[in-house]
Formats: sequence, C-alpha cells, structure tokens
Amino acid sequence: MLNGKRILLIVAGGIAAFKSLELVRRLRGRGASVRCVLTEAGAKFVTPLSLQALTEDRVYSDMFSLTDESEMGHIQLSRDADLLVVAPATANLLARMAGGLADDLAATVLLATDKPVLAAPAMNVRMWTHAATVANVETLKKRGVSFIGPNDGAMACNEYGPGRMSEPEEIVVAIENLLSVDKPLAGKKALVTSGPTREAIDPVRYISNHSSGKQGHAIAAALARLGAEVTLVSGPVTVPDPSGVKVVKIDSADQMLAACLAAGAIDVVVCAAAVADWRVSHPSDAKIKKKPGAAPPALELAPNPDILATLSRSSPQRPRLVVGFAAETENLIANAVDKRQRKGCDWILANDVSPAVGTFGGERNTVHLVSAQGVEDWPTLAKDEVAARLADRIARHLGQPRPAQAAE
Ligand code: PMT
Repeated sequence: MLNGKRILLIVAGGIAAFKSLELVRRLRGRGASVRCVLTEAGAKFVTPLSLQALTEDRVYSDMFSLTDESEMGHIQLSRDADLLVVAPATANLLARMAGGLADDLAATVLLATDKPVLAAPAMNVRMWTHAATVANVETLKKRGVSFIGPNDGAMACNEYGPGRMSEPEEIVVAIENLLSVDKPLAGKKALVTSGPTREAIDPVRYISNHSSGKQGHAIAAALARLGAEVTLVSGPVTVPDPSGVKVVKIDSADQMLAACLAAGAIDVVVCAAAVADWRVSHPSDAKIKKKPGAAPPALELAPNPDILATLSRSSPQRPRLVVGFAAETENLIANAVDKRQRKGCDWILANDVSPAVGTFGGERNTVHLVSAQGVEDWPTLAKDEVAARLADRIARHLGQPRPAQAAE
C-alpha cells in the first residue's frame, strides 16, 4: 500500500526511539522508501549506523554540515518526502514545532515543510498532561499536524498512563491512512455503533459493561478516511470523537436503536457496540434506599431490542452490508457462526472477550471474519489496524456489482 511513497522520519530523543528501527523496517516492507533525520538527543538512544543500515540511505543530523547541505539541503529534505513522520515526538520537539523554532535540522525541516506531518508523541505521563504540552498539541493540530497516540501503559520511568509511543504497526496504519489518496467509499453512507450502553436501575445506578469504544470508534474513523459519510452512535466513552464523523451520543439500548433508525438509508452498518442484552423492567425514579436489615432489592430484567438483528431484517431500507461482532468467552467460532445466522447479518467478527485476553478496553484485537463463505482468521492487530482492514474489505465489497440475490 505504500509502494513508491517517500517518508522522512524524524527521530527525536526519547527511550521510544528504539521503536523507530522497527518502524523503518515495517515501512520498507510495505514498499516505502525511508530517509531519517536524527536529532542530537535521538542519537543518544539509537545510532545513525542502525538507521542507515535499515534505510539503506544516509542519516541527516547536522544543519551546518557542508556535505549534507551541498548534497541535500534542509529544504530539499522535506520537499522530497510525501510525508514527514516524527517518531518519537518528544515534549521538547513538539514545543519547538509549536513555537516555530528552527534551532536544529529536525525543527528547521519541520518549519520549512509544506508536506503533511504525522507526530507520534512519547513522553512521561506528567509531561504529556502538562498544560504546556496540551496547548502545544492543540496548536499543532489546528495547523494540520496529525497525531497518533500516545497509548496508555507502563512506561520506562516506572509510571503508568498516557505517554507511550504508539506501536510501529499502529503508526504504519496511520501513515497508510494519511497517504491514501483513494476514497473508495466516497458517496457511501456508513453507520457504526460503539461503546457500551447503560441501563438505569435508578437515577444514580446502572447496568453496563467494560467496552471502551476504542474498536468501534476506530472503525468509524477508518471508514471516514476512505471517504464514507459516517454516523457513529456511541454509548458513554472517554475516547475522543473521531474527526470527520457525525457522532450521536446515547446512553441506553433503546436510545441506540432510535438513533440508528434515525440515520435513514445507509450502505453499510457495523455494530461494534456492546449493547446490554437486558434492561431493568421498572427503573426507579428515585434513588433506591438501602434499608438497615432489609434484603437487597431484586432486579426484574426485560430484554433489550436487538439493534443488529433489527437492521439485518430484510426490508427496502436494509443496508447492503450488515456487519456485527460476536463477543464470546467460549466456543468462539461455533457461537459466532450461529450468531450470524440468528441475527441475519452478512459478516460477523468473532472476538474472544475473556478477561485474560484483554479485548475490552485493550489496544489490540484478534478477530475472525465469519461470512457465508466461511471463516477467515486475522492476526492479532492493533484496533486501528483491525479497523483499517475491515474498512478496506467493506470498500472492496461495496465496490463489487450488487449480486442479484443475498449478500456475500
Ligand atoms: O469497545 P472496546 O473496549 O474497544 O471493545 C471492543 C468490543 C469487544 C466491544 C467489540 O470488539 C465487540 O466485540 N463488540 C460486540 C460486543 C457484543 O455485545 O457482542 P455480542 O456477541 O453480545 O453481540 C453480538 C452483536 O449484536 C454485536 O454486533 C452487538 O453490537 C449486537 N447487539 C447485541 C445486543 C443488542 N441488544 N443489540 C445489538 O445490536
């Protein structure tokens, strides 16, 4: 997908710089050529020799090098690239970018470029959440710089939280998305459900689940990047709204169904939400009081509407392609095959949601695409990669002539 694309990779000084070596390897494996600018601090973490060996090109570091300037001026470095990638993007380099400084080769190239820029931040959690960094990132986003990550997780400094640089495979997907000139889903309407639903017990308590919305939101973003007009119906989540997508926020399954039906005629729907199967039959209008010595209240449950099954039902309004997920903790494939038939959808992505696997709320997902043709096992991928791959499959499916009978 990156055949012939030229990436200028700027490696700044952070422990995550070691991942830039794997990033180079992956980019070249996808057909891109990679040229590196290594900052002075970056060279404390990875050697120019390693980058040179992996890129099969010289590595640029010194703004005032006589040979570098005569062979490849700093303006030319950015002109020759299709995309500039800053990975790791440290707090210091982001601040210099936001401030418009040109105090080393990396900052100068970034100031001089008119090419798209993707930054993969990596820093300590407190540096990432510091008001200065937050403001710098906002400024850069307003100027059109794209960001990938950072991810949550344990860091080299023994702290936990957002600040870890995205994994190389995630950065590759972001690069592919940024460079994709094709918009195969232009003119198509997509609907995506994401996140959990909340079913009220009383005004302060509810039944819900651990869905974070990461997978559903990534799918909405991936479909939008391919040109689709996307409506994302989301339960309560903390992940940011994807850009270029219409987001409808709901709480309960009933509200989710109503929002989906209000979306009107669509070409493809992907139901990634973890919809509560039951709701409380008679939620209390007032907070249920705990009475000393009294037995806990018994909750009577009623089934929720099945959104996927409702949208799958054949009607003139049925989307051309209906995709669901099957979240299972046992008999993954058999249950998914059965679920696809019961709900009447075209494709179902089976994923194991056992707590040990960490799919709910995690960064990665291992899915199996179940269709009328059989079962296709996908490797374990970052949720963004699952989304990009699914969006690509959807684009290919909708690009085919409409079959006379039944979907694929
Ligand atoms: O949000 P994340 O933390 O990123 O996690 C992603 C995920 C695990 C939530 C996601 O990948 C996933 O598996 N989503 C489906 C969760 C689920 O509710 O699965 P299910 O097997 O119970 O339901 C099957 C399908 O029917 C799903 O497409 C679901 O959206 C849909 N459904 C279920 C019940 C209902 N009342 N209405 C529905 O539309």
